[in-house]
Formats: sequence, C-alpha cells, structure tokens
Amino acid sequence: MKKIGMGIVGVGFVGPHHIDAVRRLGYVDIVAVADMTDTLAREKANLLHVPKAYGSYEALLADPDIEVVHNATPNYLHYPVNIAAIAKGKHVVCDKPLAMTAAEAKTLRDLANKAGIVHAVTFGYRGNPLVQHARLAIARGDIGRPNFMHGYYLQDWLLKDTDYSWRLEPDKSGPSSALGDIGSHWCDLAQHISGVRITHVLGDITTVIPKRKKPKAAREAFQTVGKDDSFELVDIKVEDLASVLLRFENGGKGAFSVGQVCAGHKNDLVLEICGSAKSLRWRQEDQNELWIGNRDRANELLQKDPSLVEPGARDFAHLPGGHQEGWPDANFNVMRTIYDFIASGKGQDARPAAMATFEDGYRANAIVETIIESARQGGVWTKVNY
Ligand SMILES: NC(=O)c1ccc[n+]([C@@H]2O[C@H](COP(=O)([O-])OP(=O)(O)OC[C@H]3O[C@@H](n4cnc5c(N)ncnc54)[C@H](O)[C@@H]3O)[C@@H](O)[C@H]2O)c1
Repeated sequence: MKKIGMGIVGVGFVGPHHIDAVRRLGYVDIVAVADMTDTLAREKANLLHVPKAYGSYEALLADPDIEVVHNATPNYLHYPVNIAAIAKGKHVVCDKPLAMTAAEAKTLRDLANKAGIVHAVTFGYRGNPLVQHARLAIARGDIGRPNFMHGYYLQDWLLKDTDYSWRLEPDKSGPSSALGDIGSHWCDLAQHISGVRITHVLGDITTVIPKRKKPKAAREAFQTVGKDDSFELVDIKVEDLASVLLRFENGGKGAFSVGQVCAGHKNDLVLEICGSAKSLRWRQEDQNELWIGNRDRANELLQKDPSLVEPGARDFAHLPGGHQEGWPDANFNVMRTIYDFIASGKGQDARPAAMATFEDGYRANAIVETIIESARQGGVWTKVNY
C-alpha cells in the first residue's frame, strides 16, 4: 500500500500531538513540518524525527510529497494556510476553531467542497469511545427526546494576570477567546452527541482579568511564566468567562459556561443530556466513564470497555475495560477516521459521522459569533444564521 504523505504547519503545543496520532496509523509518511523560521522548523523537525523542515507554509505546500496538510497554527493563520492548501489541491486537517469569523469559515467550506478535497476539523472529543457510545444510544432513542443539554468547559491556565497567550489577542485569536477556543468544542460535542443543532443563543460574556502582564519574549501555549520574564501591561478586550443559554432545533433547551479562569479545573469539559426517558453525562477528566441517570431504577456508571459499548463504538476503544485511555487516544481515533476516509477515496457524502468537516467548523464559528453578538446586545435571544 502506498503511504499517504503528510505535512504540518505549526508545531507548538498541539502540532506534535497531530504527529503522534498520525504516526500510530502506520500508513502515513510524516514528510515535513513548517514553522515560523527555518531554524525553528529544523529544531522541531529534529525533535520530532521528521525529515524535512520549512520556514514558511508556502514552502511546505510546494512539496509534491505532501498530500495532506495539517494546520496547527494560531487561529489567524487558519484561513490563509487553508486557502493556500486548498488551492494546491491538498487535503486539509485544520485544528479548531476553523477560522476567526463565520464568514471566513464559510468561504473555506465552499472552496474545499468545490475543490473536492477531504476537509476536516479536529474536534478531538468526538474520538472518545463513550462519546460515540452515547451518540449511537441517543440516535436509537434510548434516552427519549433530548430535552435539556447542559454543562461547562472550564480551565484555570489563565487565572493569574501573569498568564498570557495569543488566544487573548483578537488579531490572532479572533473576536472571541474562551468561547472560540473551548466553547467551540462544547457546542460541537453537544450537537454531535445529541444529533440536534443549536438554533438560538443568549450569551453573557465577561473579562475577569481586564489587564494582563504580557511577556516581552514569545511564549507557546500553556507555558508558565519564568522568573526572569519581563512584561508590558496590556488591556484585554476578549472574554475569559461566558455563560450561554441555548435552544435546539428539536425544541430542547440548554445552557453551558466556559471559563479559563476557574481554579482547579484543568481541562474540565462536562456534557449532560437529559432526555424524556434517561440522562447521560460525560466528563472529559473522567473520560472512561459514562453516567446514566434513570428515573425508576438505580443510576448506572458504564465503564469504557469494548465488550460493553455499542458495537459501532467498539473500534474507538483499544484496550480492555479497566485499562484507561485518554486524550491522545481520542485524538488518534479522530485522525484514523479522517485518514481511513482519505484512503478510501470515497466522496464527502460517504464521510464517517465521527469526522468533523469544515461544515461543522463553520457551524461552530457561527454559533460562537452569534453568542458574542447576543452578549454585545445586552444578552438577547439571537438566531444563529447558518
Ligand atoms: N483540538 C484541540 O483539542 C486543540 C488543543 C490545543 C490547541 N488547538 C488549536 O490548535 C491551534 C494551535 O494551538 P497551540 O496551542 O498549539 O498554539 P501554540 O502557540 O503552542 O503553537 C502554534 C505554533 O504555530 C507556529 N507558528 C506561528 N506562526 C507561524 C507561521 N507564520 N508559520 C508557521 N508556523 C507558525 C508557532 O511557532 C507554534 O509552533 C489553535 O488554533 C488552537 O485553537 C486545538
């Protein structure tokens, strides 16, 4: 079997995890990495044992050995890198959010469809076996009508005024920070698991830390402050905390909060779906368990176990029950879904459910943008215009 050639632009925090996941597949050649300069790219290529290194994304895109381009750059580069990759006829795997605005994301979706390439957005939580189990159980009607979908996605890595990231700069992150960064995950997951779309939102957004100490030297995501760092004090214009009410297309209601200033919450995504017969709750930090809420008998806790989950979710679990699996495994499952689809040569109509496309990326961008708009209007119900 001919191996598929892959190249990645941006190898900071998440880029190496794309490489790890793709490497596990065995039938993909990791051809090259690109980063901001030749030197940086070469350093990272050596560290990650990747043969070629490019100091610009244009150079990487010109490499004929690369069929699939991964985009793990800061948000403001998603659009130009994706546009250029599509123009070269490469398949594109872009990290979330797909773009800075819904308009950009829509353009990317349309251009990718027109070019006939495979396009995917790495909403990685879709790859968890219990997420797929819940999705299949809900689709079969096991919990009845989803009436109420609620939860949160909280982190604490921006709690101190010395915490800083490009995610706080609108020209690099987009008009939203926490909502675009992690709210996009929550909304995609809620819609993916429940099978129903968000139609209306009412948002309340807050900037808990309005001034931050921006380090004068560059820092990658989640790097902590060094004792010798020097700072400039900057105004923060984007939200680090938000609460949102939701309406879904089936008449169901919902609510979620996101925050990156919530002490003790590391990567705490919780989604609960209360149906007319049962409830289901999944928590990313305890991702090997799914809580099942019953009315007329004792509640249950389903542990991740290939012999106990829905047949359609079995392939997402790689180890027997009791052997914990985690974030990188779910990420691998997402990459495998994407690459198996690329290798199959099937058209977009045959795309697997677990694979988020630029359509899903566009929808997440549209929801986030509408939440920000709703909040700017003082918190009014606003329809999401997809
Ligand atoms: N799916 C997930 O769970 C997940 C997790 C983390 C990050 N992300 C997304 O991945 C993207 C990257 O986030 P991160 O946390 O890795 O950021 P990061 O800042 O750690 O890494 C970004 C990388 O891009 C490089 N870069 C910057 N400008 C470049 C340019 N012009 N050309 C080439 N490379 C360039 C940087 O040098 C760095 O190596 C973001 O869009 C983020 O939202 C997704």
